Amino acid sequence: MRTQVGIIGAGPAGLMLSHLLHLKGIESVVLETRSRKHVEERVRAGVLEQGTVDLLCATGIGVRMQNEGLLHEGIELGFKGRRHRIAMAELTGNAVMVYGQHEVVKDLIAARIEAGGDLLFDVRRVSIHGFEDGPSLIRFEAHDTAQELHCDYIAGCDGFHGICRPSIPEGVLSVYERIYPFAWLGILAGTGPSQEELVYMNHERGFALFSMRSPTITRLYLQCDPNDDICNWSDDRIWKELFTRLESDDGWLPNEGPILQKSITPMRSYVVEPMQCGRLFLAGDSAHIVPPTGAKGMNLAISDVKVLADSLAAFYKEGRSDLLVRYSEICLRHIWKVQRFSWWMTSMLHRFPDASPFDIRRQQAELDYVTSSVAASKSLAENYVGLPIDRS
Ligand code: PHB
Repeated sequence: MRTQVGIIGAGPAGLMLSHLLHLKGIESVVLETRSRKHVEERVRAGVLEQGTVDLLCATGIGVRMQNEGLLHEGIELGFKGRRHRIAMAELTGNAVMVYGQHEVVKDLIAARIEAGGDLLFDVRRVSIHGFEDGPSLIRFEAHDTAQELHCDYIAGCDGFHGICRPSIPEGVLSVYERIYPFAWLGILAGTGPSQEELVYMNHERGFALFSMRSPTITRLYLQCDPNDDICNWSDDRIWKELFTRLESDDGWLPNEGPILQKSITPMRSYVVEPMQCGRLFLAGDSAHIVPPTGAKGMNLAISDVKVLADSLAAFYKEGRSDLLVRYSEICLRHIWKVQRFSWWMTSMLHRFPDASPFDIRRQQAELDYVTSSVAASKSLAENYVGLPIDRS
């Protein structure tokens, strides 16, 4: 088999890249070790920045999102038992869309299949070769048969635990990492959201987040110990803890309902530099992880592949390789700003186990400042709805 761009991974990064390349007349093949059902049902965050929404719409895959997504023009930050609204649309002219990541994945898969795209699920033993200094080769097994895919370039969109990043020779990458002393316990509840906007709540027992997926599904999170086991959390305990942490002075609380899914996710900030090695380009979680506070993970994956698709198009259509050479630099400049924002939101909202009384007062003063100063609210809002990518 031969193609122009071999894409490893059918998450939002790999699928969106394949979709964008197709629209530019560039061939690709997407290889995924999981099943289609698995990637279509994998529960992840669900907040799309304005730029992500615009890109989905401009490339013809925004129809279901426009109909079923929930437009959010503000968010609420709570502390000391009071909630304060950040009026994002008023402050920035932009908004976000609440629409689950797996819904975006479903829409992208449907579009790729309809366009006759090459999308192989359930492949095994994927390995990549030759990319350091020449045309690339991907070896894999499909239906128990060994296969070879020859390509000009490889896109490593296979996530944090994928094979692409570890295939880069030792000494090429520098790793920048921060592990947080807490995790998120997330649930999907089969009940309608009791208010329209997200609530990020700072509480002495730990952070809590009220979010949603649809008019009948609420999504909620609790800060917990990173070594905790989900078996320790009965449904009753989860609801009791959510009610305690989210309770605020006006009596508002989430609606209680059946818990459809629950899991614990560790939190880390992680970046590798550079994001390329010869003809291999890393995109999305294979190159960087953000803590989920601010829901930037998928948005970063989409902005990486937008830059990559434009760079590949400049090469194939105009014979220019300058943008491919600058891929990593352009992405990283944006990624570090988003890393900073996600770290800042995380630090401001969570209770750190070693926080001193001084740290706690300082954290509350920061929340007070952010929610009372127009300048500070605007800074939060412009980051939340998404900063533009600067290619200068
Ligand atoms: C979610 O709905 O899953 C969500 C929302 C906001 C966040 C993180 C996750 O900051």
